[in-house]
Amino acid sequence: MKAIYPGSFDPITNGHIDIINRASNFFDELIIGVMMNSKKKYMFSIEERKKLIEQQFANNAKIKVVTFQGLLVDYMKKHHIKVIIKGLRTVTDYAYEAQMALTNKNLYKDAETFFIHSTEKYSLISSSIVKEIYSYGGELTDYVPKHVVDALKEKLS
Ligand code: PNS
Repeated sequence: MKAIYPGSFDPITNGHIDIINRASNFFDELIIGVMMNSKKKYMFSIEERKKLIEQQFANNAKIKVVTFQGLLVDYMKKHHIKVIIKGLRTVTDYAYEAQMALTNKNLYKDAETFFIHSTEKYSLISSSIVKEIYSYGGELTDYVPKHVVDALKEKLS
């Protein structure tokens, strides 16, 4: 069975990686959907975000990284995917994610959202926090893999 894990991944963090590794144990193929939301300002381009994820999972044949614009459910219908994977860190995430899960269900009745609770040590990590720490010169080894630290350094230099 296939599943999709959609997100902005600007950039991918250790929290995302944890969810991807755990989710991929349950599916034949896990598609990482890197989304382009025209209302959001990203640090990394969509192709840069995709590449950083591909570098991380280069040795995992189950994981495929794609980019797309538009509704998630349209992509899912076109590619015969029925399961959406989402990570949950806090109750704040839940309020936002519940709304998205119900909306996606309304738009596509076969879609099911599977929530995976983040591992405790990753429950405070977000891409926004990573960018903020980095902008003040903070240490990021616990938050993102080394190739992402390097990409951040290059971006901000
Ligand atoms: O990492 P993010 O920014 O929290 O991810 C949000 C994302 C990209 C998963 C969400 O905005 C999304 O699914 N966008 C695609 C557009 C869509 O389908 N919207 C309706 C679902 S509420």
